[in-house]
Amino acid sequence: MTAPRQIPVFCAIDTTDLDRASAWVRAATGAGLGLKFGKEFFAAHGPAEVRRLRPDGTPLFLDLKFHDIPNTVAGAIRAAGAAMRPDFITVHASGGRAMIHAAREAAEAHDAGRPGILAVTVLTSLDAADLIDQGLPGDVTRQVLRLARLAAASGADGLVSAAAEIRTLRAELPRNMSLVVPGIRPRGSAAGDQKRVMTPLEALALGADWLVIGRPITASADPAQAARAIAGEIGVGA
Ligand code: C5P
Repeated sequence: MTAPRQIPVFCAIDTTDLDRASAWVRAATGAGLGLKFGKEFFAAHGPAEVRRLRPDGTPLFLDLKFHDIPNTVAGAIRAAGAAMRPDFITVHASGGRAMIHAAREAAEAHDAGRPGILAVTVLTSLDAADLIDQGLPGDVTRQVLRLARLAAASGADGLVSAAAEIRTLRAELPRNMSLVVPGIRPRGSAAGDQKRVMTPLEALALGADWLVIGRPITASADPAQAARAIAGEIGVGA
């Protein structure tokens, strides 16, 4: 059997149940999708299960959103890089210039296929009132841009971006910054708790490099079919 063509989508494996995770991994990778593991899976099972579940060569996004003093984040990036060889790891841009810089330097310690450092700007769960609670001006878009510029100037390789911000970020940032975009819903699927959603083709056309799609695959009655449909939807427009 030939390997499926690589599709620029990470399937979010958000569960602590190993059987369920294995089934989702089979569904996603069978359709040529990459894998995203985040805090939920990682807190339960750690690097050993990430390694075991990831087929050789499958793109891996480790979404651990590190935010700590630079020395600690650098150590975590070195450890995660050595243990799992991810393609991307996330840090919070609000950790500051020195922390992002330390993350990038630590990533560069991995000569073969170093992980890209993605910065998270303002969590989409926060609104203007939350920023004001933190003593910041209550303008979410301005804060996203401010942190995005800081991340780019501090050595981040890319950003996690809400779909609604792709256009602005593409206009503002160097073209070599990767944009990885969650909140994507294939044609005809339910939005769930994602408030502002976009289809895969819309997001890619606006300048997303990678998409993150979870529940439209994992909550589907047939995850393998859902993953294949997404791959087909993208393939048709590509
Ligand atoms: O299930 P769904 O497609 O909504 O999955 C979204 C994935 O993307 C989850 O793993 C979630 O943590 C992540 N994410 C998000 N919204 C953001 C940032 C990350 O949904 N703004």
